[in-house]
Amino acid sequence: MDLYEYQARDLFGAHGVPVLPGRVVTTSEQARVAAAELGGTVVVKAQVKTGGRGKAGGVQLADTPQEAQRKAAAILGMDIKGHTVHRVLVTPASDIVEEYYLSFILDRTHRTFLAMASVQGGMDIEEVAATAPEALAKVPVDPVAGVDARRAAEIVQAAGFPAEVAQPVADVVRRLWDVFVAEDATLVEVNPLVRDPQGSIIALDGKVTLDDNAGFRHPDHAELADPAGQDPLEARAKARNLNYVKLDGQVGIIGNGAGLVMSTLDVVAYAGQAHGGMKPANFLDIGGGANAQVMADGLDIILGDPDVHAVFVNVFGGITACDQVATGIVQALSILGDAAAKPLVVRLDGNNVAEGRRILARAAHPLVTMVDTMDAAADKAAELAALTFAKGA
Ligand SMILES: Nc1ncnc2c1ncn2[C@@H]1O[C@H](COP(=O)(O)OP(=O)(O)OP(=O)(O)O)[C@@H](O)[C@H]1O
Ligand SMILES: [Mg+2]
Repeated sequence: MDLYEYQARDLFGAHGVPVLPGRVVTTSEQARVAAAELGGTVVVKAQVKTGGRGKAGGVQLADTPQEAQRKAAAILGMDIKGHTVHRVLVTPASDIVEEYYLSFILDRTHRTFLAMASVQGGMDIEEVAATAPEALAKVPVDPVAGVDARRAAEIVQAAGFPAEVAQPVADVVRRLWDVFVAEDATLVEVNPLVRDPQGSIIALDGKVTLDDNAGFRHPDHAELADPAGQDPLEARAKARNLNYVKLDGQVGIIGNGAGLVMSTLDVVAYAGQAHGGMKPANFLDIGGGANAQVMADGLDIILGDPDVHAVFVNVFGGITACDQVATGIVQALSILGDAAAKPLVVRLDGNNVAEGRRILARAAHPLVTMVDTMDAAADKAAELAALTFAKGA
């Protein structure tokens, strides 16, 4: 789960990373009040879960409360890379002498944690990383040893921070690491980390990605979730405990077992090339012991996706045998009734497959096509999807 800047800032603050005060508001009038309360020049900042807000005009200075109101009115409702701004953060403007960059990430490629730091922080850090990679220090962090004073000093030194800020920056490095570990994050990023004229080091912008798999350790993280910002289908699937990820294709996928579903995505993407570029519309693993209700829940989610034009149900019978799965599909279709209005291609194999196919054949549901092999079924599903997709249905 990605957090908004203001949520990241709250977590930073809770772990002693120096941040500015601020108010999150949803109307320009509230922005005016917040600016008046904070006093002095403020910055009005779009709260959206994407980068490049500053360059898009979503971060603006305001000298007076009236100006803060005008700036908030301009920023609220703005579209930044497909994200509509519903909230702004009003925060005091800070005098900036220098802008730095600091982050910890889970480095999957190298199977370690990685600290990144640069004295050339600010809005162009991506460009720095691309054109002057030597200006972005990358220091692996052993997950067991973590970041102690010595490791923090090494990170600071690798990035070439000026001597007079080395100590306060090293303190921030350790505290940011605390955030990373204590909150089970896979990313914590501060850009910019600034030095003000008094020599104070302050985190002016924060980005945090929390590891959802560790959610059970953090009941307090639940309130950070943002149902409005979540894909509605994913939210519905989650509420029903389904393992679902929305993708951008047209062929709905249901399978049992994550490995089978992953390979189903590949096979459908490949088959789709012969049918106008049809692609998988989702990942959905209904698991090994799926009963009729789980199948119905899964089908319901997928058939409710307006992007889906055909569904591929790919099941390998194991502990739950094919006859039970077939019965589940038939029952699911009757539970859904008229809500099931898209062609289904079903491929069953494995334990008790003959009986499973017999059950489906006997039901003879008009929307269901049975195909024996995975490749042929993927091809059929892509073909059927292309048919209605082309019609613009
Ligand atoms: N409180 C502040 N006081 C003064 N300047 C600020 C303040 N907050 C941000 N800025 C300036 O605006 C720039 C952009 O702000 P910020 O880093 O928050 O957004 P961004 O980096 O453009 O967005 P994103 O992180 O989504 O890419 C900063 O690099 C900094 O120069
Ligand atoms: Mg930034």
